[in-house]
Amino acid sequence: MPAINASAPGKVILFGEHAVVYGQPAIAAPIREVKAKASITPDPKGEVGAVHILAQAVGIDALLVDLDDSQPLAATLRQVCAHLGVKSLPACTLKITSTIPVAAGLGSGAAVSVAVIRALASFLGQPLPDEEVSQLAYEIEKLHHGTPSGIDNAVIAYAQPIYFIKDRPCEKLHVKKTLTLAIADTGISSPTKQAVGDVRKARQADKKQYDAYFESIGSLADSARQAIEAGNIEQLGVLMDANHGLLRKIGVSCPALDTLVTTARQAGAFGAKLSGGGRGGNLIALVNDERADAVARALIAAGAVRVIVTDIRKA
Ligand code: PMV
Repeated sequence: MPAINASAPGKVILFGEHAVVYGQPAIAAPIREVKAKASITPDPKGEVGAVHILAQAVGIDALLVDLDDSQPLAATLRQVCAHLGVKSLPACTLKITSTIPVAAGLGSGAAVSVAVIRALASFLGQPLPDEEVSQLAYEIEKLHHGTPSGIDNAVIAYAQPIYFIKDRPCEKLHVKKTLTLAIADTGISSPTKQAVGDVRKARQADKKQYDAYFESIGSLADSARQAIEAGNIEQLGVLMDANHGLLRKIGVSCPALDTLVTTARQAGAFGAKLSGGGRGGNLIALVNDERADAVARALIAAGAVRVIVTDIRKA
């Protein structure tokens, strides 16, 4: 039996991060320029249950039996087995590679989960529909994030732009006019779990104010959906700027993000904002084909460690 391979894209959140944890709508899109890959090679001579996990980037080279469920990869494998009613796995090697930067707001954890779930389900001869893949990845997201909204696993499993509200089926978005984004990395690693935890504490201290911020972010996401569906790029840029302003207010931006956001706007972006958990990681700037190069160059000159220019279009 040949190796079974599966991959999953990275993602950006276009609107609504953090507020989405509190029930507000958000918009996210897959980024195909970066991806996680899982490859499972059977070992016909090995004993049943001898599953070798290799994930060099995170320093894992271990047997499944030696890892407990606090290790997300081990938890993922066991969860897929439980879901599919498989008691023990045939001997095999699972190899994971990824070009998605870790702790940068591009969905690396969820993409690894989705790739592993798909590869294992296919390896076991029971490929899963996107919805079940998303649900299983959500369980693993809880290990990464604590209290995730579920947007990362959903956008990555469906691999389409989505409009998302927590605990509701996600809606695929109709993108009327292709959106060109420059995604710039501050190079600052920032775990989402920490930012989400800090926002939770700040909300506990001032619930009324924070809920008002979240509602404003939610209405921006609703307006953004209309702008995306109408192909109104300029309006979308204005909404992005407003969303970044609110993310600053809830305390998840940082000087490096603010500098790069301002740089992108000055270099001709229609709008820009941080994307994901914040405090570092990536920002997104809405550009068009003519402006993309100038904005990308300006971002690098202002300290971005990497810029990806990508298109978001109707799937
Ligand atoms: O994984 P990140 O950093 O893109 O963050 C996900 C978005 C948050 O709203 C901050 C958290 C969540 O669970 O929705």
